[in-house]
Amino acid sequence: MFISFEGIEGSGKSTALSRLCSLLALSGRAFVRTMEPGGSKLGQSLRALLLDARNSIGPEAELFLYLADRAQHVRQHIRPALEAGSVVLTDRYADSTIVYQGYGRGLDVRELFRLNELAVNGLWPDCTLIFDLPPELGLERARTRNREQGIDVSEGRFEAEALDFHRRIRAGYLDWAARHPERCVLVDAEASPDAVFAQVSAIVLPRLGAVSE
Ligand code: TMP
Repeated sequence: MFISFEGIEGSGKSTALSRLCSLLALSGRAFVRTMEPGGSKLGQSLRALLLDARNSIGPEAELFLYLADRAQHVRQHIRPALEAGSVVLTDRYADSTIVYQGYGRGLDVRELFRLNELAVNGLWPDCTLIFDLPPELGLERARTRNREQGIDVSEGRFEAEALDFHRRIRAGYLDWAARHPERCVLVDAEASPDAVFAQVSAIVLPRLGAVSE
């Protein structure tokens, strides 16, 4: 079972994923938690390049860096873990490229789908949770988190983007989710952390079988 967590900045997906992992660990269920960009050793170097606001990276170069990160991640970690029977939970995957580089940066979405297919060799998640909330709220949460961690908001290439960019990302996720109802499920991320986690549990746990809260 392969599950991805998607959403705009500050949507709470990583927090919900951490809670889910704690629950699975308690239940003794084998799982692998991973993330993009940065799920492999190569990916960690790519992540540092991609997220450093001092780097000026054009949309095409950005695209190929994300795809390189994903191709290595799938080959080295995700596919072997799935073949070993593990549940794989990833914080972002191919839908991020479709939405950020496509709906956000304006690259052609059909072309991005094709390039993703090449990078992942046809491996798409069984289920994708899309954390949805107004970008104003997400950015405020991301800023608060950055302040608490002593990070200047302008240090993140994406957090520093204009509100209009984040509005396109939210709309992109909603549009893309509607086109892939067989695997995409929306989570109302405006709710409290407990209510968000209740939704996540209700979506994920039945798909994993015998795990209960
Ligand atoms: P994170 O903050 O959730 O770790 O994600 C890093 C940033 O990278 C986030 O702003 C979204 C962006 N991103 C893309 O633009 N394209 C992609 O394919 C991926 C995986 C992330």
